[in-house]
Amino acid sequence: EAGRDGDGSVLLRSPSGATARVSLHGGQVVSWKNDRGDELLFTSSKAIMKPPKAMRGGIPICFPQFGNCGTLERHGFARNRMWGLDEEHPALSRSDSGSRSFVDLILKPSEEDTKSWPHSFEFRLRISLTKDGDLSLVSRIRNVNGKPFSFSFAYHTYLSVSDISEVRIEGLETLDYLDNLSQRERHTEQGDAITFESEVDRVYVSSPNVIAVLDHEKKRTFVIRKDGLPDTVVWNPWEKKAKTMADFGDEEYKQTLCVDAAAAERPITLRPGEEWTGRLELSAVPSTNCSDH
Ligand code: BG6
Repeated sequence: EAGRDGDGSVLLRSPSGATARVSLHGGQVVSWKNDRGDELLFTSSKAIMKPPKAMRGGIPICFPQFGNCGTLERHGFARNRMWGLDEEHPALSRSDSGSRSFVDLILKPSEEDTKSWPHSFEFRLRISLTKDGDLSLVSRIRNVNGKPFSFSFAYHTYLSVSDISEVRIEGLETLDYLDNLSQRERHTEQGDAITFESEVDRVYVSSPNVIAVLDHEKKRTFVIRKDGLPDTVVWNPWEKKAKTMADFGDEEYKQTLCVDAAAAERPITLRPGEEWTGRLELSAVPSTNCSDH
């Protein structure tokens, strides 16, 4: 099959030299590097790369359920399944130089999935690198069922950071959030920007479509653009929880921050034949000293 490496992953390359690797297991982006070869997504040194579970790192897809609020396994089954290549015209995804800059994947429910979640859907996922090396994920989910269904969703994005205590998020200040550490209690964010000194597990509801994650030490800013996804989830397990996770190093909480574009608070409902689109675009830009304050 065109573009498919022996290990069931696909390598994308932008004209600028940025790369991304996409695993068919989970439809998961497992690496995204800039044109200098710096890895921008976190992967745990203890990650288990083999099915049936999602690998700890990159961008697992949470569908049809985000978190534990529902009857399914945490974060749904999509991240644990083998996805197919959805390519009518594989040549189209190749640039002049022969390397590909996007891949189209598809997931349909298995018999087992329909037992736990009795709905028919087609989930098409396009993962691409722009010419400047930005990473784009576009999910299109169609109801091919005879009756409506509802789902929640997240791009569970493990950003790679230098040191969590040097990182801050801008764009979520003054928003309401649901705190997963206290039975989803609703609070209002008081700080000017979000910084980290302990475990955080929050759903910021109705968040703006552009959010910045500033890594002071690396002088890098991640710009997260989303569309169709009202919420933003922020998660860092910190020290104690890190120690309870088998596929995560005890100290690795310092090197990552999950910032997920999500539809978590209110489920999305699709009537028969309807389609929903949710987009994520990530860029990593060098930050200037002006952002010091
Ligand atoms: C976060 C949840 O999104 O994902 C956390 O809010 C959870 O509660 C984390 O621990 C990781 O989940 P998992 O299933 O990948 O270990």
